[in-house]
Amino acid sequence: MGTKRQFKVWRGDETGGDLQDYQVEVNEGEVVLDIIHRLQATEAPDLACRWNCKAGKCGSCSMEINGMPRLGCMTRMSTFEDDETITVTPLRTFPVIRDLVTDVSFNYEKARETPAFAPPADLAPGQYRMQQVDVERSQEFRKCIECFLCQNTCHVVRDHDENKKAFAGPRYFIRAAELDMHPLDAKDDRKTYAQQHQGLGYCNITKCCTEVCPEHIKITDNAIIPMKERVVDRKYDPLVWLGSKIFRRHPGDDDLTEAGARHSVAAGPAMRGEDLPDAHERTEEQEVERGVNWHRQLAPAQLPAVGANGRLGVSEAAFDRSGAASPFGDDVEFPMPARNLNYAHPDQD
Ligand code: SF4
Ligand code: SF4
Ligand code: FES
Repeated sequence: MGTKRQFKVWRGDETGGDLQDYQVEVNEGEVVLDIIHRLQATEAPDLACRWNCKAGKCGSCSMEINGMPRLGCMTRMSTFEDDETITVTPLRTFPVIRDLVTDVSFNYEKARETPAFAPPADLAPGQYRMQQVDVERSQEFRKCIECFLCQNTCHVVRDHDENKKAFAGPRYFIRAAELDMHPLDAKDDRKTYAQQHQGLGYCNITKCCTEVCPEHIKITDNAIIPMKERVVDRKYDPLVWLGSKIFRRHPGDDDLTEAGARHSVAAGPAMRGEDLPDAHERTEEQEVERGVNWHRQLAPAQLPAVGANGRLGVSEAAFDRSGAASPFGDDVEFPMPARNLNYAHPDQD
């Protein structure tokens, strides 16, 4: 039998909410997500929380615990004092859907806008060869589990919604760095893209993102700072400047619209230079045409069908309908048209 501990959990939705007090049993070896599950099983069956793996690998259970962005499944209860009240709140940077669940589609928008890996045209799959040192360099960035704790922590967007349009955030800086350092990536404008489209210049290397990364990726030291150095090298190297003036091999390097147009095959609409309105200004038709409609109206959340004992009936578990609406919407046909894909596809012209 465990001990009773004091918790404050934020309950509410996009219209508002507050912290509610709970006394919950805690047993040896448990993590905060265990306590959330116990709360759901006992006092609060309608408490909303995302989770999947309970092993620190899916990145779903991101929340703020005593004000610190953490994974609920990786935060041991033994790290708190016995008499400490543990406060659990949703990620602050993203709009609340309900309780501990936030709408993180900002991150998926930024992911879609990042041009995909573009292998050289003369190499077929299976012919790719690269040095082990290059594999290891990008391997660090590939450990990302997309928990978005770094995105949530970054002060550029944490309390400044207005910066979201121009700032992709640390998770996508490591993606840009990974591709820029990839010896087989044929696109040569990753640095320009990071600076001009991802808002790399907003970052003042405070390293807060690195501190919260559960995968211990050295976001600032190994991705952001090298990218900033490369941007500066490119912009201020007198030989590069002189060469660009004489040879004009890449007339679009200082102009993202032109640079994007040069790489129209593998790039998404933003990099194709199409005149696309900002995500929050697009009509539903434009969203569907792009393949994903992030702003469609979701059905209001339903209370789970619990019995008098507060538990789900067996029939709920056997129900053949998915538990949540598809993020792609019901009006999107698969496969998506090739031109909407942000990776190189043979059917793209
Ligand atoms: S180092 Fe840059 S990206 Fe990371 S939290 Fe600080 S400002 Fe944001
Ligand atoms: S870089 Fe780290 S903190 Fe950011 S999303 Fe990836 S795993 Fe999470
Ligand atoms: S439940 Fe998957 S990371 Fe926590």
